[in-house]
Amino acid sequence: MLRVAVAGAGGMARVRVRALLSTGQVEISGIASRHLTTAQKLGAEIGCAACYDDYRRLADTHPDALLIEVPHEAQDGIALWALEQRLHVLIGGSLATSTPVANQIAQLAAEHRRVVEAGYEARYSPPWAYARELLASGALGRLVTVRSVALWAGDPRTWYYNQRISGGMPLTHMTYCFINPVRWVAGEVRSVSAYANRIVHTAPELIDQENCVANLLFDNDVLCNMTAGFVAPGGLPAWSVTFIATDGAVEVYPDEGGSGRVIVYRGGRAEEHNYRNGPNAFDAQAQAFVGAIQKGGECRNRPADTVGDVQVAEAIVASVRERRTVWL
Ligand SMILES: NC(=O)c1ccc[n+]([C@@H]2O[C@H](COP(=O)([O-])OP(=O)(O)OC[C@H]3O[C@@H](n4cnc5c(N)ncnc54)[C@H](OP(=O)(O)O)[C@@H]3O)[C@@H](O)[C@H]2O)c1
Repeated sequence: MLRVAVAGAGGMARVRVRALLSTGQVEISGIASRHLTTAQKLGAEIGCAACYDDYRRLADTHPDALLIEVPHEAQDGIALWALEQRLHVLIGGSLATSTPVANQIAQLAAEHRRVVEAGYEARYSPPWAYARELLASGALGRLVTVRSVALWAGDPRTWYYNQRISGGMPLTHMTYCFINPVRWVAGEVRSVSAYANRIVHTAPELIDQENCVANLLFDNDVLCNMTAGFVAPGGLPAWSVTFIATDGAVEVYPDEGGSGRVIVYRGGRAEEHNYRNGPNAFDAQAQAFVGAIQKGGECRNRPADTVGDVQVAEAIVASVRERRTVWL
């Protein structure tokens, strides 16, 4: 059995602990949160008694790996500590909150031969895998443009709305939806030109780039327009990505739970593929993480795959602030 310790005990820690346990190859060695009672609450739910209010105490539980599910401000320090402890690491959010730390994590992972996986589950979800394969097969011709929209009405009282703690909207929200999976399908981003609102819409304090429109230029001249933000009128369908190719198009409607549906347009017809009851992407990612540690299998969000997500988020912020196109 692989011993996995957990830092953070909120919503996503529960999702990922369940996914890790579903592999049948994992036991949770300990849980740490900022407050002991939070760790103990999760501990009681899953039968883990080793609970702490300091993540460093998790070393006492002799883990092989660490799951990090904390607000972004805290995650970099915990990830670097884990690698110094020679632990494999599954990070619930983006690889890091800045490119220098992302590169440092990549370097330490390579040096210590540890598996590090960033927590974007989209690359493990059937709709994204189907769209990627279909486009790569050439069945829809050559990919020309991509458009995406991802509006999310969060709770302004949570850390997601705190600029210092979250790192801002592009890092928190846009890397998930949908920089990371679109890069998986369309290749690398070469340049970024972005605009963001300067008026407070959703909270007493303006989170930077609360609502944002970014134009990305990918390899092979694929053009992409992303709209993302925290203004999300109820009932508006605003969570999808469309890949437009020379002989057809494919539209991905991901679910929060990692499944969803796809519509393929070709020959004047629309064909829907529904994955709502399909395999869970969090489970598949947990399986890949455990498999990579135990058998040397491949993960899809290794540091080399995900440093680029952080770079694009940073380029969006720089483009907005400096009113220029940023070349990567
Ligand atoms: N893949 C996805 O679909 C998805 C969706 C949402 C979020 N996420 C990511 O998941 C991660 C966790 O988000 P969440 O929604 O689970 O957050 P959350 O529910 O707010 O939980 C955060 C937890 O971290 C703890 N914490 C805060 N500061 C800490 C510190 N310095 N050291 C140790 N623990 C600390 C909190 O502790 P106390 O309660 O004890 O104060 C809480 O238990 C984030 O990276 C987020 O971006 C991913």
